[in-house]
Amino acid sequence: MFTKLTTIALSCLTAFGLSSVMAQDAMYKVEQINVPEKPEFMSSLGIQKDATPKLTKEQKTMMTQEAYQEKADQHFMTVHAQKGVSCVSCHEPRGKQGVAWMAVATKPAIRQNCQDCHTVQAEVVAHTDTHDKIDCIACHMPNVASAADYSTDQNVAGPKALRRIHTYKILVSPDASSMVQQDIKTKEGTVKGYVLAKNEDGNAYVDLMWSCARNSPADYTVFEGKGCHNEKTSKLDEGLVYQDQKEIYGEVQKWQNPIKDGYEAVSNAIPRVRKLLEVTRLSPADQTEARLLLDKADDIATMIEKDGSWGVHAQNYLLDRVKTAEAYLAKAQQIIDNGGYVKAAAK
Ligand code: HEC
Ligand code: HEC
Ligand code: HEC
Repeated sequence: MFTKLTTIALSCLTAFGLSSVMAQDAMYKVEQINVPEKPEFMSSLGIQKDATPKLTKEQKTMMTQEAYQEKADQHFMTVHAQKGVSCVSCHEPRGKQGVAWMAVATKPAIRQNCQDCHTVQAEVVAHTDTHDKIDCIACHMPNVASAADYSTDQNVAGPKALRRIHTYKILVSPDASSMVQQDIKTKEGTVKGYVLAKNEDGNAYVDLMWSCARNSPADYTVFEGKGCHNEKTSKLDEGLVYQDQKEIYGEVQKWQNPIKDGYEAVSNAIPRVRKLLEVTRLSPADQTEARLLLDKADDIATMIEKDGSWGVHAQNYLLDRVKTAEAYLAKAQQIIDNGGYVKAAAK
């Protein structure tokens, strides 16, 4: 049922006759994008700062419905929905003009942001030294083209990416795409169309191309992120421009592998050292110190696991945390080793 709804999304924008214009030279109208809080971004699209959408009541109603359906499609295929996080957990339903803000792709009133619930991630992200100009949604809720306009080719789909995808989870994969082609039954017969792809848990996700290297001029987070990593739009250093999803995957692996390896080493060592403590005779002071060190290493491991980005949220900070946990463990081991020698000598 949900998949069918995605395919009709954005058809109303096409009805305004804007899609073809956008594809050519990425010109947008305030009827599509309206983020008055971001005047620099709006002027980058050639939209005047005091421009306001001129939509009839019927157009607004239709666009609101389509926006709602598209979001519902996506949101109900996520862990958020399964854990009881709903539209109104994040959105202020009594915000300006009721739910009419859904009509144009805009910056709706938010009552709770990601950081309010994800305190561990917020703390880690606060330590980033690479992505300090962008927010959670720049990576986790990119503007993605709707099913009707979707393509894995960013040059084709990117300029039509008007709305934030509500699938949240980033899938780290060299080739998985957020949407896949499928046969869809319509009244007129079976047609090929894009539907949301599923990960192994059956949930929808954001792929690495859309997350890191999309070509979405209508996304203010891309504007603020200096064009991100897309080869057409990026204003970053050459080494940070990525050709395709495989390359992005390789870069993410470079960040994640050392953190994953470090985490694994630390979390395997903790129970082993704890066991050693039980069979080693130590003075009360040494016991206490060794146990404190183990608890501290454990806290770090728990934090890294809870963060779940394995380095992407703040590479150097998390590397430093891994090293710190390793140092705590080495010191605890040393205390135990000394205790062991003392015991042997005493016999
Ligand atoms: C009302 C609280 C709340 C808010 C606000 C919230 N989340 Fe979540 N989020 C959760 C809960 C609960 C889970 C389930 C896992 C857990 O308990 O940590 C979750 C899980 C996730 C996951 C993991 C999904 C998976 O498939 O494993 C991601 C990614 C995520 N949130 C991103 C975000 C982003 C990005 C935002 C802001 C746009 C956000 N969250 C806002 C509560 C929230
Ligand atoms: C630079 C891009 C980027 C930014 C900014 C970012 N994240 Fe992430 N986040 C990722 C990636 C990549 C992962 C790793 C996904 C994986 O390996 O499965 C991740 C993992 C997560 C997870 C773990 C759940 C899971 O398994 O996917 C949560 C929850 C989360 N991020 C929330 C947030 C929140 C909240 C913020 C803002 C405070 C934020 N992220 C900022 C890219 C980002
Ligand atoms: C986890 C938090 C969260 C949940 C849950 C959530 N949203 Fe959103 N939504 C956001 C954020 C963040 C934005 C973008 C705000 C911005 O651009 O600054 C957004 C933007 C939107 C927009 C504006 C158009 C666009 O795509 O940019 C619409 C419409 C929308 N949400 C509808 C919904 C509906 C309907 C639901 C429930 C099915 C929902 N949202 C659930 C966080 C959430």
